[in-house]
Amino acid sequence: MKKIELRALTSKDMETTVRWNNQTDVKFLYAGHPFPVNIEMEYEWYNKVLRSNVPTTVFGIELISEKKLIGISVLRNINLINRKAEFAILIGDTEERGKGYSKAATILTLKFGFDMLGLNKVYLFVQSSNNSAIKLYEKTGFKVEGIFRQSVFKNGKYEDEIIMSILKEEFVSDSI
Ligand SMILES: CC(C)(COP(=O)(O)OP(=O)(O)OC[C@H]1O[C@@H](n2cnc3c(N)ncnc32)[C@H](O)[C@@H]1OP(=O)(O)O)[C@@H](O)C(=O)NCCC(=O)NCCS
Repeated sequence: MKKIELRALTSKDMETTVRWNNQTDVKFLYAGHPFPVNIEMEYEWYNKVLRSNVPTTVFGIELISEKKLIGISVLRNINLINRKAEFAILIGDTEERGKGYSKAATILTLKFGFDMLGLNKVYLFVQSSNNSAIKLYEKTGFKVEGIFRQSVFKNGKYEDEIIMSILKEEFVSDSI
């Protein structure tokens, strides 16, 4: 049975997501910048994302049994001419990692992208040391396209990013 669902974020989620955004692991593996985030910045981000002209879809990942927000999944840089978008995911609640929820959320987000937005391709960038994320992406059907060399600077050194993608014709949604 389905254990998680995707839902819209609301202003009530801001305190949770701002906390995740300040976690060290999230700063290192997920966030685009190293700066601390305060509630005002988070508020700006919500406003920007929710009212942006550049389409972005942000889902809250909620544990159905407890009605608990455990993460977010994102389709950003949605390009409706070339029918592609960039994917990102975060299980911010570290206690809830390793339980298969991100796999289910990735599949649901891809399903939304392919079936509702009419996308043909979803791609992502992942740091080469992020083994959990790479495994997750391989298990949900993403394929490696190439390496973006020395693409991020974190903790005093450069790291490569791996570019991965999945096409609509490759997507199998019946595994959840
Ligand atoms: C990456 C992340 C989303 C993975 O979430 P998770 O809850 O650990 O992943 P899941 O439990 O859903 O596991 C997904 C699949 O990957 C596998 N997997 C996950 N971590 C693994 C690991 N370290 N080694 C081997 N396999 C692993 C699981 O076995 C599972 O496959 P299965 O169901 O067929 O067994 C989570 O660790 C996270 O939020 N990290 C911080 C943010 C981040 O790195 N986001 C990605 C940025 S590109």
